[in-house]
Amino acid sequence: MTFLALLILAGCGGGGHTLENLIEASELNGIDTALAAKGKVLFETKCMTCHRLETKVIGPALQGVTKRRSPNWIMNMVLYPERMTANDPVAKQLKAEHNDVQMVIPGVTKADARAALEFLRQADS
Ligand code: HEC
Repeated sequence: MTFLALLILAGCGGGGHTLENLIEASELNGIDTALAAKGKVLFETKCMTCHRLETKVIGPALQGVTKRRSPNWIMNMVLYPERMTANDPVAKQLKAEHNDVQMVIPGVTKADARAALEFLRQADS
């Protein structure tokens, strides 16, 4: 696992390759409502400390986020926020715009990140 992560990181030679390949946009079709419902529960328990859909709180308002970022970017942000704000130019900028608060979510899994994405896709549909 660590070896794989190293391979992924080493394989990209920095700059713009911070993103792990977690999902392809082509895997996404209509909204999976069951998955979105799971994502809603997750959003309420793990994200609402810092986020609302409509308004900026500690973190940015998340309504419309699936229109401005790719599905893979969003999943990377949810799973690896610290790597993203350290290396990804957009995430870095967002952090600067949010009083330098680092997004952290304890105990988030890839399945959680996928469910969160579906909830956000549903909110934007
Ligand atoms: C401790 C507060 C905090 C928690 C908890 C948190 N976030 Fe964030 N989030 C932020 C901040 C602050 C930013 C802006 C980047 C930064 O400063 O790290 C952000 C940025 C984002 C972005 C990028 C928004 C954009 O405009 O591109 C997404 C997507 C996101 N968060 C989703 C989530 C989801 C989904 C959860 C729950 C699973 C979550 N966040 C939990 C604080 C938080």
